[in-house]
Amino acid sequence: MTSSSAEYTRAELWSARPAGERMIIGNWKAGCRTASESVDLSRSVTAALSPVPAGVRVVVCPAFTALGAVRTLLGDGILLGAQDLFWEDQGAYTGAITGPMLTDLGCVCALVGHSERRRLFGETDDVVARKLRACWRHGLMPVLCVGESLAQREAGATASVLQAQVRSGLSGCAPGPLAIAYEPIWAIGTGRAATPRDCADGLAVIRACVAEIWPSLSPVPCLYGGSVTTENCAGFWGAGTADGALVGGVSLKAGEFATICRIAADGGRADS
Ligand code: PGA
Repeated sequence: MTSSSAEYTRAELWSARPAGERMIIGNWKAGCRTASESVDLSRSVTAALSPVPAGVRVVVCPAFTALGAVRTLLGDGILLGAQDLFWEDQGAYTGAITGPMLTDLGCVCALVGHSERRRLFGETDDVVARKLRACWRHGLMPVLCVGESLAQREAGATASVLQAQVRSGLSGCAPGPLAIAYEPIWAIGTGRAATPRDCADGLAVIRACVAEIWPSLSPVPCLYGGSVTTENCAGFWGAGTADGALVGGVSLKAGEFATICRIAADGGRADS
């Protein structure tokens, strides 16, 4: 991917998104132990998605250390994203990976506020809000991850948790490129995906909240994440609910990830 095509796709990823196009994002997490494993995976994903079907926008998010190598190997139509970023742009911030570093490597988007970052790295809503702003300063589309814990769900607090997470991220900001991933924490990496109904309910709350904060904005792409597989994926967008998926564990299996992308491109029919 050249930097000029990265410029093009960065803008196009959001603002020129054709109606009905689905977005499938593979979050590789720390699933590849080395950059060479990520290189092998990117070759396999490219081979399995050659060509990328029309109607789906595909993004993969490797580890930071593999971004440079993976960038040169991804096939046409497979975009590069980051799993996180730091909120400042430059300076004495040991270990930080900044927005300019990511755009320099061809990233078009970054996950922000993933529940693993919130839980394991202590990220607060304030940190998440700063990271969103860092994305917008550098033309990265943030994928804001929100979701309730099992305890919050059982206490009937799902809607209020989602509203608080969306509001704290977006309030006081001018509308900018954005996707939101609804990822119930209890569904991530557990094999216990939300039901399509749970997904639809969560997304309805999120969409209403975004419309209240940014009334002039055209609809924000809303994804579902949490134990997405080839078998269950169509249920999340079949009834026109989610605009795509954020896929963790299964994104490390090139063939299955490609199948999810093809099902998404085919209008959500599982029999494609
Ligand atoms: P999972 O992860 O698909 O392995 O549940 C999803 C995510 O964390 O984004």
